[in-house]
Amino acid sequence: MKQKFSGLRGMGDILPPDTVLWQRLEATAREIFGAFGFGEIRTPIAEETALFERGIGEDTEVIGKEMYSFLDKGDRHISLRPEGTAPVVRSYIEHAIHQREPISKWFYMGPMFRYERMKTGRYRQFHQLGAEVFGIAEPRQDAELIQLALEFLKKLGIFEVRLELNSLGDVDCRRRFAEKTHAHFSSSRHVLSEELQKTLDRNPMRLLDSKEERMAPLIASAPILLEQLDDASREHFDELQRLLRLLEIDFVVNPRLVRGLDYYSRTAFEVVAEASVLGTASTVCGGGRYDALVEQLGGPSTPAVGFAMGLERLCLLMGAKSKAVLQGPLLFLVDAGARDEVWKLLSFLRKAGLAVEADLRGGSVKSQLKRANKLGAQYCIVLGEAELKTGQVQLKDMQSGTEREVMLSEVEGMLR
Ligand code: HAM
Repeated sequence: MKQKFSGLRGMGDILPPDTVLWQRLEATAREIFGAFGFGEIRTPIAEETALFERGIGEDTEVIGKEMYSFLDKGDRHISLRPEGTAPVVRSYIEHAIHQREPISKWFYMGPMFRYERMKTGRYRQFHQLGAEVFGIAEPRQDAELIQLALEFLKKLGIFEVRLELNSLGDVDCRRRFAEKTHAHFSSSRHVLSEELQKTLDRNPMRLLDSKEERMAPLIASAPILLEQLDDASREHFDELQRLLRLLEIDFVVNPRLVRGLDYYSRTAFEVVAEASVLGTASTVCGGGRYDALVEQLGGPSTPAVGFAMGLERLCLLMGAKSKAVLQGPLLFLVDAGARDEVWKLLSFLRKAGLAVEADLRGGSVKSQLKRANKLGAQYCIVLGEAELKTGQVQLKDMQSGTEREVMLSEVEGMLR
C-alpha cells in the first residue's frame, strides 16, 4: 500500500490564490512600518530553550505547555520560537546595539510555534508581524506603536476593532500586587487543581490569566492592579491616554487585561476584532511595555515596548471581506500550428518582463482558449501559419471580446 502523508496538525499550507492575500499583507506591512521608521530584523526560528524560559516566564502557559522543544545532536536544549520578542532582545544584546544607537525601531514577520489546541484562528505554526522599540521610556512611544498597529489594520480594510488598554505598574508595584493576589486565591486554595496551587505559590498573578472555567468567579473578585498603581506608572498611563485622545484614537480601559507573558510592565494593550469569523480567537494584536526584560536577559537597563499581530487572523478578516483573486497573465499565446514560434515568442516577451502564458501541453485551440479563460488572461493571440506568413495577429481583449489587428513585431510595445 502506498503511504500517504499529511501536514502536521495545526501547521497549514498556504496555497495560491490565498498567497496573494499574504503578499498584500506583507507588502503593506513593509510600506507602513517603513513609513513609521522601522527597520526589518530577521532572527532564526530556533533558539536556546532557556532564552524563552527566562524571557517569557516559566509559569506561563506558553512555556509550561506549548513549546516545541528538543535536544539537538550536540545535546543542546533548543526550542522553536513561540514568539518574537525574546529572540529580538537576545539579538539586541548580543550585537551591543545600544552602543551604536540610542533608539532602535525594529519589525519582523515570520512563523512562530505553539503547541496549542487547534481552532479557527489558533494554530501550532502561525505567523506574526511584530514591532519592538528600544530606548524610549516615554508614553509617547507606546502611543506611536498603538497608532501604527491601528493604521496598519485600516490600510488592510480592517476597521471594526476595539483597542483595550491597561497598566501593569512597575516591578515593585507588581510585587506588592502579587502578594495581594496570593492572599486572595489562597483563601480558595482547595478549589484549585494541584497545578494551579503550584502556580499560586510561584507566580500568583498568572492565575489571573487562567482559562479554566471554575477560575472565572475567583478571577472576577480578585484585586485589581490598576487601582493600586505606583505614582509614576499612573502618570505614564494617564499621559498615554491623553496622547491617544489627541490622535482621536478610541480605547477602553480593561483593568482585567493581564496578557499571557511575564515580561510586561506598565502599558499592556490588545486590539480585538469585532467580526465573528474569528470566534473566540478575536485578539489580532497584543503588546505592551517590557522595561525590565533587556536587563533580565543580560543586557543594559533599556526601556522597551512592542506588539505582535497574528497574520492568519488578519487574513481571515481580510478574506471575509474580499476573496483573493489570482492575478491572471497579461497575455496568453495560443498555438494553432506554430508551436516553435509560440515557444520563442513566449520566451522573448517574458524576458522583456511581461507576464505571458501558454499551454505547454499544446492541444486543440479550443482547449488552449479554455485554459486562457481559466487563468484570467487579459489578452490572447492565436498564432498559426497564416499569422506567420503575414506577420499580423489579432490581439483579443478577453473581457470585452474585441479584437485588434497588430503586427507581430509590435505586440510587445502594444502591451506596454
Ligand atoms: P501574544 O499575545 O502571545 O504576544 O501574541 C500576539 C498575537 O499573535 C496574538 O494577539 C494573536 O493574534 C497571535 N497569536 C498568538 N498565538 C497564536 C496562535 N496559536 N495561532 C494564531 N495566532 C496566534 C506576543 O507574542 C508578544 N511577543 C507580543 C509583543 C511584542 N509584546 C511586546 N512586543
